[in-house]
Amino acid sequence: MKKKKKSAKKSSRNKESIKAKKTTIAPKEETKRELKISAIDEGTVIDHIPTDSTFKVVEILDLENHRGIVSIATNLQSKSIGKKGIVKVGGKSLTQDEVNKIAIVAPDATVNIIKNYDVREKIKVKTPDVIDNVVKCSNPVCITNNEQVATKFYVVKKDPLKIKCHYCERSMGKEDIRII
Ligand code: CTP
Ligand code: ZN
Repeated sequence: MKKKKKSAKKSSRNKESIKAKKTTIAPKEETKRELKISAIDEGTVIDHIPTDSTFKVVEILDLENHRGIVSIATNLQSKSIGKKGIVKVGGKSLTQDEVNKIAIVAPDATVNIIKNYDVREKIKVKTPDVIDNVVKCSNPVCITNNEQVATKFYVVKKDPLKIKCHYCERSMGKEDIRII
């Protein structure tokens, strides 16, 4: 009696594992090609990020602590900017401050506001002329690193980004930029 039960269980388990194998080993070619980052129903998609700024955007938005869905893709082909990154954040809308920060690390980014699976609004970010209290000065003796003084930079060149500290006049490029 006991033995019979055991073998019945075993054979049904075998069936299951064969079924699973079939679907994972031989997906159709079209399915393979469509395995891209999924659409979101509600939230924000930041698109056209230079690929090496993708994780800076993640940091700016503090997505490590976000409760909703976060999808991050890098090194995607883009006709306009070479390789790009995309960050999709479910259940979040961005503040103006967050959009301004993104503009500094991703001057060509598009912020798409998604409602009910539709792109309701598409915002093209704009690099500001003055950056207040967003970027840390790379000069250790700058007053902003030693006293309670907010940083301020002037944008000297937009692409590639070059900024100059209002206080110590240190010039900084994209690679020196650390977001406060
Ligand atoms: N998107 C999404 N979820 C939706 C709708 C759109 O994740 N429900 C994403 C798309 O994958 C795309 C971005 O939002 O990365 C913008 O969508 P859309 O305007 O439809 O794409 P494009 O026309 O390619 O955008 P653009 O003209 O800005 O390149
Ligand atoms: Zn400085």
